[in-house]
Amino acid sequence: MKLNLFNVELSISRKNSHVTSDLSKKDIDELNAEHIQNILMNGKDYYIDKSQDISLPTADDKNKISDAVQRLSNDGIFITPSFVEASHIEELCQLIESYSNDFLLKLKKEKYYEDELALIQTKQCKIKGYASLAAYPKATLDIRSGSDEGMIDIFNVDKLLKGTKGEKIIDQIVNNHFLNNLLNSLPTPLVIRNLNSYVNSGITSTRGFHVDTYQEQIKIFIYLTDVLELDNGPYTYVKGSHKDSHYHRINQYLSKNQKAKTETPVVPFDQVYPILAPKGSLVISDQSGSHRGFPQSKTGKRRVLTINCAPK
Ligand SMILES: [Fe+2]
Repeated sequence: MKLNLFNVELSISRKNSHVTSDLSKKDIDELNAEHIQNILMNGKDYYIDKSQDISLPTADDKNKISDAVQRLSNDGIFITPSFVEASHIEELCQLIESYSNDFLLKLKKEKYYEDELALIQTKQCKIKGYASLAAYPKATLDIRSGSDEGMIDIFNVDKLLKGTKGEKIIDQIVNNHFLNNLLNSLPTPLVIRNLNSYVNSGITSTRGFHVDTYQEQIKIFIYLTDVLELDNGPYTYVKGSHKDSHYHRINQYLSKNQKAKTETPVVPFDQVYPILAPKGSLVISDQSGSHRGFPQSKTGKRRVLTINCAPK
């Protein structure tokens, strides 16, 4: 800024005015950390009560499909608690757990290990990028680095469970009448493309609020463990944030100079929902809305089956 006082030109730099216009990753991290602190202050009981707003009961009446379509359009999310029978979920979870422990042992301290059943890798040293991992003919246990460090994202988990009881349970979920009817009834009808499983234990640092894309992208989650404590790292969604709004535009503006152009740290706090629900619960959300994984405590545990969809 230039000022002309008594014919003496003064130049005031931005540094001297104590305001820097460049937004850093640290500013975004701090804003996200504030949201986490505020959620912790409200506490789990507050959010268990609040989740009624986005809950679609299990009752299978004929209006449920249109209700679900409406919820996704208005709120970008809904949850159906205890959608899959608990005994099936426990069996599925145990199988996934035992395979992931087995492959972790086989990996030892190497960067990757591969056999006829699956690949396990660190730092995406063998197969890179979501599309290649999803298209790989075997299951891949991808150990995340960077944000969500240590989380295991199992691509094509169904291939890992071929020939086990888990295959049958997964088949039942994938062919569920309600899910398929719903996907078919969306404005852009979808089909199920591939299945992943997230294995999170003590993941204390998670990526802040972000969108996966700026276009509608429906994703289906089924909790394989009880996520009834904030310590377990619930999936956390900002209701209605999939719609165009000033928040949307502010976030796009703020993150345009960031490495990831999809960070969305500015969120209406009263619309934030950490999804606290029992195992077997179904969560469907539009990933163009702001979301994140809540940071776990060191002993926190969460297992999830994720179902990815694509236009028919
Ligand atoms: Fe995401």
